[in-house]
Amino acid sequence: MSLLKVRNLHVSFETADGEVNAVNGVDLAVSAGQSVAVVGESGSGKSQIMFAIMGLLARNGAATGSVEFDGTEILGLGEAALNRVRARQIAMIFQDPMTSLNPYMRISDQMTEVLTVHSGMKPREALAEAVQLLDAMGLPDAGRRITMYPHEFSGGMRQRVMIAMALLCRPRLLIADEPTTALDVTVQSQIMQLLARMRAEFGTAIILVTHDAGLVAGNCDEVMVLYGGRIMESGPVRRVFAAPQHPYTSGLLQAVPRLDRDDDSLAAIPGDPPDTARRPAGCPFAPRCPSVIGRCHDELPALVLRAPGHASACHRAGESRT
Ligand SMILES: Nc1ncnc2c1ncn2[C@@H]1O[C@H](COP(=O)(O)OP(=O)(O)OP(=O)(O)O)[C@@H](O)[C@H]1O
Ligand code: SF4
Ligand SMILES: [Mg+2]
Repeated sequence: MSLLKVRNLHVSFETADGEVNAVNGVDLAVSAGQSVAVVGESGSGKSQIMFAIMGLLARNGAATGSVEFDGTEILGLGEAALNRVRARQIAMIFQDPMTSLNPYMRISDQMTEVLTVHSGMKPREALAEAVQLLDAMGLPDAGRRITMYPHEFSGGMRQRVMIAMALLCRPRLLIADEPTTALDVTVQSQIMQLLARMRAEFGTAIILVTHDAGLVAGNCDEVMVLYGGRIMESGPVRRVFAAPQHPYTSGLLQAVPRLDRDDDSLAAIPGDPPDTARRPAGCPFAPRCPSVIGRCHDELPALVLRAPGHASACHRAGESRT
């Protein structure tokens, strides 16, 4: 059984300029110990899916559909019930660790608070546990450094602290939203190794949100490719990368990361992302698609299985050219 099952998720925002449709009918299933990547360029709806799962949408946002965690519907749960699920079972780490660390509190106080409040541990026990976890995250001299403030840490170390904090309550699902984007390549690979170890040791399921197709290849079992808040393709990483069934996925894989540009390696696909205020009549990728044909402009392609577990939404999937 899936640990997390998201069905027909829609997220929209009310804005002064009208409704923004950020997520349009997304399905996602994650089993215990599995690692699922969610990729797509900026604005494709990756973070909003995660915020909807966590019940953390902005106030002008609303989600419909279903989010089942361990067999229980959690979409629309009240704050108190949701807090109980979140605290012990689902954790999220963000791109910028400073958004989740309190700059005015020592790391030790921030970490032990989680344990004393949620797990009822005694402060001394909690401190020992926190030091041990930081040590396991590869933070040198963890016993001394834990008394420092967040600004005294480098970016990579702060990200390790964030991951350690996310793991304190031994979550069953970890949502990592671009956890390494701001870090250099060496630190990035260390963090990915940590996540892999966690998965192996604790059976933690991971959803990895990323721009970086290279990171997906080495670290994930399944991948979901998003465009304009819709799934363009999903399936086992090996299959999808070896034989993509959607021109957008092919474009992403061909977009070569450039060393002189550390922003968005996917930006190499020419054209602009779709307008989220307008629901396209046809395929949302049509204005940028090198394989576009007449029907693409007025017929929305359905997400169809092309091989076991491997689905794509393209009128031309299966033809040799896509
Ligand atoms: N509070 C909001 N009000 C209106 N629109 C919003 C709001 N929050 C997000 N959006 C819109 O939702 C869409 C999806 O945003 P999302 O943050 O999920 O993108 P993303 O794929 O995570 O991008 P990135 O890679 O840049 O983080 C975007 O068009 C964004 O402008
Ligand atoms: S449906 Fe048409 S426009 Fe959309 S990805 Fe396929 S070929 Fe391109
Ligand atoms: Mg995002």
